Amino acid sequence: METHPFAAAPAGGPGLESLPVEPLLTSEFDVDPGGVYERLRSTYGPVAPVGLMGVPVWLVLDYREVLEVLRDESVWRRDVRHWRARAEGRLPRDWPLLAGYEVRQTMFLDDEEHRHARLSHHSAMRPFQDGHSPEGWELRAAVARYADELIDVLAAESGTTGFADLAAQYTRPLLLMVTTKLFGCPVELGDEMVMDLWRMLDGGPDAGAATGRALGAMTRLAAHRRSRPGEDLTSYMLLSDPTLSDEQLGRELFMNAVYLNDITGNMVCNTLLEVLRGNATVRRSLSHGQLGETVNRAALVNPPTANLCFRFAARDVRLGNYWIRAGDIVSPSVAAAHRDLLAMGSSQLVDSAVSTRAHLAWGAGAHQCPSAARELAGTVVTTAVGRVFERFARAELTLPPDQLPWRSGPVVRGLRLLPVRYELVAGSGGRGAGRTVPGGRRGGEVGVPVASTAPPSASVGADASSAGERAGSGVLGVLRRMMSRGRKSG
Ligand code: HEM
Repeated sequence: METHPFAAAPAGGPGLESLPVEPLLTSEFDVDPGGVYERLRSTYGPVAPVGLMGVPVWLVLDYREVLEVLRDESVWRRDVRHWRARAEGRLPRDWPLLAGYEVRQTMFLDDEEHRHARLSHHSAMRPFQDGHSPEGWELRAAVARYADELIDVLAAESGTTGFADLAAQYTRPLLLMVTTKLFGCPVELGDEMVMDLWRMLDGGPDAGAATGRALGAMTRLAAHRRSRPGEDLTSYMLLSDPTLSDEQLGRELFMNAVYLNDITGNMVCNTLLEVLRGNATVRRSLSHGQLGETVNRAALVNPPTANLCFRFAARDVRLGNYWIRAGDIVSPSVAAAHRDLLAMGSSQLVDSAVSTRAHLAWGAGAHQCPSAARELAGTVVTTAVGRVFERFARAELTLPPDQLPWRSGPVVRGLRLLPVRYELVAGSGGRGAGRTVPGGRRGGEVGVPVASTAPPSASVGADASSAGERAGSGVLGVLRRMMSRGRKSG
């Protein structure tokens, strides 16, 4: 590789702030992020200085360097207080990304504080992790049931053949229903929270206020479950760490809600897209019944968290062709790193069942997605995708893949729409037709008919499950109202 002018610069050489940077979030990036990553890589090497909404940031592009940043927590810190530009008051006051980073929760903690907070997530999620506990079984059954309810709504409103947006009419509502169920939201809170998360995730003009309201709603949910515990994630977080205040728990739930809604939803849509657009290896894994592998392959092509959360250098350190200064901000790009894996060629990677595990869509190192959350997300994604392919006899994109509209933010890359022409399986328009829930631990096989499967124990808490049920129909109610509002205004 060519030597860059700053390759040998000692720590006294030019810093990030003095380098010319090109803005990352351009219309070109919106349409073809892969092309932008390639251009940056050929200009700067494995690490490039870019502008993010007016603030200079190091974007880490190569797989090796991304892995190094994710794994070495002694150098690459998560606490925003390590950021020199912030500490020196040099950030624009209204920089839109700062508010999120100021919310102190597990993701933005280091060392012992981080390990302690992460443990609470682990033990609270464990009961939902697989299908062998009452909570895990109930959640899996609920995901399949919600998916079927949404497909039933589609059949009732648009017919057994027609057009649908699988992002807006299926994936997003499904994930909101699952969140309501998992978190144990009572109906009133659920409807309010659902609407605000949508506003926040869509980044509209009132996103800041909606974020504040969503945080407030999560804090109220924490207080509610403290006084009325159930078999839900909120109550289990409190059980695993009773010292958590309502505000602290609200912040942790808020982050989980973002992952469960936006990120998991993107994983569902991206997987559906890879199958619908005819990605041969993805389709092959699907036709071999390896749904988990289908998701892995889709995550490799289009990771839902394209660029991971910022890290801050604890000391001057060499990365790629540059010296990164203590307190500099870096953004590890999983999407760019995956291009390295894909470039290794089909014989080594894309056709191999084993090597797709090298993908970084779950992160790596101390802050990687907790195993229980991965199991949970894997179940939701495989069930959501599995139900579509069981209940739809035919589904084809109504737009060429390169004309689909994407939301390309500094962190997330997700589809705005997933428009299809569909035909449901005959007899699938009614409620309960061919309903299944995933049966096993390994996520990937869509499996056991509900009717012939009993929960491991009959005693799933009445409050939690009935709240979930009521909440599920509450969300459906909101959706129906939104859909009919949309039709009237459209
Ligand atoms: C397909 C869906 C998901 C994907 C692709 C995903 C991906 C990730 C990634 C990449 C990270 C690390 C971020 C970083 O290092 O900057 C992460 C962290 C995390 N995820 Fe997930 N996630 C998913 C679903 C979930 C769900 C459903 C939950 C919980 C309900 C969850 C909870 C967490 C938590 C608590 C962390 C922070 C861990 C820490 O900082 O120690 N994730 N996730």
